[in-house]
Amino acid sequence: MKAAVYRTYGSPDVIRITEVARPEVADNQVLVEVRATTVTTADWRMRASAFPGILWLPGRLMVGLFAPGKPVLGAEFSGRVAVVGSKVTRFQVGDEVFGFAGDGAHAEYLAVGEDAAIALKPAGLSHDEAAAVPFGGLAALVFLRDFARVTPGRKVLVAGASGGVGVFAVQLARHLGAEVTAVTSTRNLDLVRSLGADHVVDYTREDYTGAGPVHDVIIDTAGTTSFGQAKKALAPRGVYVPLEFGLTEIFRSLTTAMTGGRKVVIGINGDRREDLEYLAGLLERGDLRPVIDSRFPLDRIADAHRRVEGRHKTGSVVVTVEPPEALRLVA
Ligand SMILES: NC(=O)c1ccc[n+]([C@@H]2O[C@H](COP(=O)([O-])OP(=O)(O)OC[C@H]3O[C@@H](n4cnc5c(N)ncnc54)[C@H](OP(=O)(O)O)[C@@H]3O)[C@@H](O)[C@H]2O)c1
Repeated sequence: MKAAVYRTYGSPDVIRITEVARPEVADNQVLVEVRATTVTTADWRMRASAFPGILWLPGRLMVGLFAPGKPVLGAEFSGRVAVVGSKVTRFQVGDEVFGFAGDGAHAEYLAVGEDAAIALKPAGLSHDEAAAVPFGGLAALVFLRDFARVTPGRKVLVAGASGGVGVFAVQLARHLGAEVTAVTSTRNLDLVRSLGADHVVDYTREDYTGAGPVHDVIIDTAGTTSFGQAKKALAPRGVYVPLEFGLTEIFRSLTTAMTGGRKVVIGINGDRREDLEYLAGLLERGDLRPVIDSRFPLDRIADAHRRVEGRHKTGSVVVTVEPPEALRLVA
C-alpha cells in the first residue's frame, strides 16, 4: 500500500510517499481503507521534533530518541472497513467509520482496535468532514468538560478560536451552556460567530484583557497567550487552561493548586471511544460541525505539513486518499 513515510526528523521534505506492507489485522482489530485523514499540529510536532521547551526530551523519548519509531504519522481518519478480525463484534465489512488512531493514518490502510476511538461515520458527513473532527473535537471536549469543568452560565474565553482545536472549543463550550468569547483575527470573526461565539475579540486590533477580570475559564488552544496576561481577564477563582505548555505552566499549575485564587490547569487529552461516540451524536444532530482549511491529496502531504506549520490554518488541513487501484476497478 501507499503511505507517507518519514525516517528522520526534519522539514516537510523528509516525508516520502512509499510502498509499504499493509498492516496485519489482529483478532480484535478492523482494517480501515482510509479515504481521508488530516495533518494535525501533533503530526507536525512529531515530524519536525518541535516539542516545546523542556518537553523536547519527553517528546523524543515518546516518538523515538534518535529516529522516529513509527514512520507513518496520521492521528485521525475516516474510511471504510475492509477486513474485520475474528473477534470483532462492533463492525462489519463495508461500514463507514471515523476515529482517532494516534498514528498510521497517512496511508491507504490502517489497522485499529475495535475498542479504540472509532465509531460509525455520521451519515450526513463526507469522509473529508469526518476526518476533520476527532483530534480537535476530543481535545476540546476533554479540556472543557473534564479539566476546566465548564458548566452552564460560565464565561469561557477561547484563545486561538479558529484553529484545529479552537473551532470545536467554541462550539462545545457553547453546547455545555457557557457564554463564549472567541479570540481570533479579522478574517475569522464571522466564522467564530457562526460557530456560536457570543462575543468576539479581534486580536489584531484589541487585547482580550480589555473587558477586565470577568472570565471563569480561559482556554488557550494554540499557545497564543500566557498566565500573566490571562490573570488580567480571569475572575478571582478562574482557571487558565493552556493546551501548549512548558516548564513555566507546569510550575504554575503546581503552585496555584495550593492557593485559593486563579489557577493554571494542564493535562493531556484522552482518546476514549465513548467521547468520540458523544461527538458523533452531536454531528449527527447538526449540533457540531467541522471546519476545513484546505485539502491536499496524499501525494502532496508535504504541502499539507507546510500549511499546518505556519500556525494560521482555519480548522483542519485534510489529506484525501484515493482508493487503491483494485478497488477503483471494482467500484
Ligand atoms: N495537551 C494536550 O493533550 C493537547 C491536545 C491536543 C492539542 N494540543 C496542542 O494544542 C495545540 C492545538 O493546536 P491547533 O491545531 O488548534 O492550532 P492551530 O490550528 O495551528 O492554530 C492556528 C490558529 O490560531 C490562531 N491564532 C494565531 N495567533 C493567534 C492569537 N494571537 N490569538 C488568537 N488566535 C491566534 C490562528 O488564527 P489567524 O490565522 O486568524 O491568526 C489560527 O486559526 C497544538 O500545539 C497541540 O500540540 C495539546
